[in-house]
Amino acid sequence: MNPVESLKAKVRDIPDFPKPGILFKDITPLVKDPASLRLAVHHLLHPFLGRDITAVAGMEARGFIFGALAAWELGVGFVPLRKPGKLPYNVQSVSYDLEYGSASLEAHIDAVGPGDKVLLIDDLLATGGTAQASCGLIESLGAEVVALGFVVELEALGGREKLAGYPVHSLLRF
Ligand code: PRP
Repeated sequence: MNPVESLKAKVRDIPDFPKPGILFKDITPLVKDPASLRLAVHHLLHPFLGRDITAVAGMEARGFIFGALAAWELGVGFVPLRKPGKLPYNVQSVSYDLEYGSASLEAHIDAVGPGDKVLLIDDLLATGGTAQASCGLIESLGAEVVALGFVVELEALGGREKLAGYPVHSLLRF
């Protein structure tokens, strides 16, 4: 098995979380293991090395883990896209539908702006609602979304189709 595929063994299935009928993909075993974490971040970023990227944005909460590591590796800053009421300064908001329920994300109005080329990073692509809304949020601030990267993609939920027009890279497809 190739090393990237072997990372699938570090993603744990949790049935009926956070609601009955949802099979939750738990990435904490992957994040806990130093070699797996390094391998995942390395391969997550591989397509983006050498690209003109000025910032990485990550979605709360698990997108912060990989997004911050990605920003560190690329030598750019990190922008947190947060759940409502968490950011202290003036914010831009966007609402969206989730795999389970609905939600909003916020960014500081000065987080990115015209001229910024943003890589969006999250742990997981499911329905694509979060990622699509995040693209809208970044673009509403005048910045460009260069590409999106995910550690896990749940292919059956069709998130990639929602992101048509954006380059999407995922590491582990289930
Ligand atoms: C999960 C995951 C993504 C999103 C994907 O986050 O980390 O951000 O759902 O789902 P979608 O493609 O259907 O929109 P969640 O909202 O559970 O937040 P958390 O990271 O704070 O647990």
